[in-house]
Order: sequence, then C-alpha cells, then structure tokens
Amino acid sequence: MQKVIHRIAVLTSGGDAPGMNAAIRAIVRHATFHDLHIFGIYRGYEGMIEGDIHRLETTEVSNIIHRGGTILKTARSKAFMTPEGRKQAYESLQAHDIDAIIAIGGNGTFTGASVFEKEYDIPIVGIPGTIDNDLYGTDLTIGFDTAVNTAIEAVDKIRDTADSHNRLFFIEVMGRHSGFIALNTAIGSGASSVLIPETESDSAVESLISILKKGAKRKRLFSLVIVAEGDKAGGAIAVADAVKEQFDSYEVKVSIIGHLQRGGSPTAVDRILASRLGFSAVESLLAGKSGVMIGIRNRKIVHVPFKDAITRDKAPDEELIRMAQILAL
Ligand code: F6P
Repeated sequence: MQKVIHRIAVLTSGGDAPGMNAAIRAIVRHATFHDLHIFGIYRGYEGMIEGDIHRLETTEVSNIIHRGGTILKTARSKAFMTPEGRKQAYESLQAHDIDAIIAIGGNGTFTGASVFEKEYDIPIVGIPGTIDNDLYGTDLTIGFDTAVNTAIEAVDKIRDTADSHNRLFFIEVMGRHSGFIALNTAIGSGASSVLIPETESDSAVESLISILKKGAKRKRLFSLVIVAEGDKAGGAIAVADAVKEQFDSYEVKVSIIGHLQRGGSPTAVDRILASRLGFSAVESLLAGKSGVMIGIRNRKIVHVPFKDAITRDKAPDEELIRMAQILAL
C-alpha cells in the first residue's frame, strides 16, 4: 500500500557537484507548495547516523541557485556501509518522524540508498549529482556540464602558453572510472588526443605517439592531450613520462586541473537540469515511487531503478569518440 508522506528529508552525499544547491532549492520549494515539511540532513549519511537533521524553510534556499558546492555539506560515509550504522541512521530518522528521503549523489550514494530502502522499507528516490556523468539511465548528471565548461576554460588558457612555447601538454581532468569529462573537454577544446578508460588498450601510448609524430610531421608546433584521471595507462604524469622516453620532438609539460572542476557557479544547463530533477523527485515520492533515480533521457524525465543505475555501465557515445579522433587529425 502506498505510504502517506508528510515529512521528507534531503541529503547530498559523495563528491559535491555544481547544481546540487539548485536541486535542494527545487525540492524545498516544491515540497512546501504541497504543504509538506522538509528537512535537510547535513553531511550525507554521516549526518543521518548522527542525527544532524534540521527543518528547511523556503527562505533558507533563497539566493543559492547560483552557488556551487552544497549548503547541506557532503561526506563519504564508511559507517553507513555497516548494518549498525544504518540502524542508527534509521533511528535518527524516526526521531524526526521522517517518512521519505531524497538522496542526491552518485553511485555510492545510490548503493547505500538501495540497501537502506529495502532494509527499513522507507521510500527513497535519488537524484544524479556527480561531475563524472557516469550513472546508467540518465543522459546527464548534475554538475557535469559545469565541470566540462570549467575544464575547457582551463585548457583554452593552457593552449595560449603551449602555443607560445611550442610545448606538448598533458592535461589531466577528473573522472575516477569514466572518460565523459575528458572526451567532452577534448572535443570542446580541440585537443590533439584524449585518453579515457573506456577505450584503453595496451598500445594506447604507442598510438598516442604515432598521432603526435604525424602532427609534428605536418608542422604542428604544439599539442594538447587530455588524460582522464582514471585512464589505465596512468594519470597525466605517467603518460607524459612514457611518451617522453620515446618521442622528444617537443618540450613536455603536465597540468592537473583537479578539484577546480568540482566548484564554481553552475551553468544554465546544470541549474535547469537540477531544478527539473528536484521538482520531479518530490512529485515522484508523492506518486508512490521509491527505489529509483530520477534521470533525464532525450530531455524527458525518467525513473531508473537504483539497481540499474549502479550496476549497469554507461559508456561514452561511440560516435563522439570517432568524431574526436577525426577532428583531432
Ligand atoms: O565526484 C567525482 C570525483 O570528482 C571524481 O571525478 C574524482 O575521482 C573524485 O570525485 C575525487 O574525490 P575526492 O574529492 O573525495 O578526492
């Protein structure tokens, strides 16, 4: 039987992502519109275990739509992976009479949510919030577009100095297990090559050297290579070292963009996406949905079972990979 929902709690967990605040705002405003009581759980599952749960009024989400990070703070919780931790978390929720949860985060967040939802029979829906864009079932995750824009802006600046000095730059972007940021940054910044975990091969460095040699032959005076953090050939430093050993036509430099990509004001794409997902999360709970991630496919809202979102692989578009190779020639 469908549970009656009066009190919803929202949390952000895992790595923060620009646009999370816009999602929190949409949740609070939409829940308030339906006369529901809405609570914020601070520091993700850690805060749920410790009972760091407070009422959120609509005024508290004023003036946050343009801010990066998350007003609810975030954490990666080891304790929530244990039955004892989850029991404590459930007791904290009961102490605040929470009927349902909206969890904003990535794979780890939904893995925890999926176990908790079944263990305690509490309605939970998820919102994909991670710059990595690595969740199955949604075209986009909150924060990805902003991270790619930030990375492209950084590469544009590196391009100026690479060009002035005739240097070869290896630029590492985030993406622990996935190459979405790297591939899109490479296309958007016109890089010479990109290394991503999804297309890794034993000969990745050899093929990269062959691309660079062809470029040098055609009098390409500088080159930019984007390396995904999770690429199996190693990060940008390891790849640069391997290339240097066999190819010395350029002076080689490495630049790691790092956490810069996680901050900053969200782009229009992320603000609108986050607002839509936050709005739909409240609607979905009221319609009796649970155990699902609210995603977006072909610009339409979809509901993806947690099981699929966390276990199925999302691969970058083959067509984009092919295009990136041809355009970089
Ligand atoms: O949120 C995703 C992500 O930014 C990955 O791209 C990166 O590998 C990881 O988080 C870094 O996490 P932390 O900030 O905990 O080191």
